[in-house]
Amino acid sequence: MMHREKVAVSHTAPELADKASALAAQLGLPLHDPTTNTPTLLLTLTTERLELRQTGKGAEGPLFVDFIGGAVDYRRRQTTSRKEAIARAVGLKSGARPVVLDITAGLGRDSFILASLGCTVQMVERSPVVAALLADALARAKEEPMLAEIMARISLMVGDSLEILRTWQHERPEVIYIDPMYPHRSKSALVKKEMRLIRLLVGDDEDSDQLLAAARAIATRRVVVKRPRLAPALLGTEPNFTIGGKNSRFDVYLV
Ligand SMILES: C[S@@+](CC[C@H](N)C(=O)[O-])C[C@H]1O[C@@H](n2cnc3c(N)ncnc32)[C@H](O)[C@@H]1O
Repeated sequence: MMHREKVAVSHTAPELADKASALAAQLGLPLHDPTTNTPTLLLTLTTERLELRQTGKGAEGPLFVDFIGGAVDYRRRQTTSRKEAIARAVGLKSGARPVVLDITAGLGRDSFILASLGCTVQMVERSPVVAALLADALARAKEEPMLAEIMARISLMVGDSLEILRTWQHERPEVIYIDPMYPHRSKSALVKKEMRLIRLLVGDDEDSDQLLAAARAIATRRVVVKRPRLAPALLGTEPNFTIGGKNSRFDVYLV
């Protein structure tokens, strides 16, 4: 019988079969078998990395997280200054490198920028598939000597941030950063394509208002929410101040 699964695990070389089976078991996903399932998305293990691929005609992808090359590395090199909007939003100053809890990690771009700027960043991601892509990128980046110092400041937790914040037992982070999926984001073509795939996987984030409320109870200094430039504030609560970026803005709630 054919099953229409959303995501299945596949691999591109025979020697990856065992690793792919282990990953499928870990994530509770089926292995791709064209005779029995027709998934919308494939989590594909290649000899280089883990990728998310869309199946069918006009397919998007592949999508993978990469901290070493491409856009993120370009931005890292351009962004050693503290002038970037995100840096000002989290309160980065000379001598102040806040500890940031990024409760909507996604592709880890913002976390990576913050860690590049000297913050210690704990990422939380609730989609096990997105978290697997992130974990794969972290593992590859840790092998890159040039990134060792930055990678030592980033960690990843898989789980629902709302649950994690409501049962928080650790030292409270100074800053909590939230960038929920927004239905009408306008961004560069590259990000749009990547975010379209992620949206296909995780849907829209319906609980972002609750995330803001829970975050404000835990952060010791501020909560920063990334929003599309013209979107309403989360919870309908005006922030203490806003910092404008190119396509988006950062709403800052001081504690
Ligand atoms: C727009 S993306 C974040 C992009 C990220 N800032 C970046 O730079 O790549 C939103 C992500 O947050 C995750 N997310 C949303 N709500 C969450 C929650 N309550 N707990 C954990 N992760 C959540 C979604 O699964 C999605 O991957």
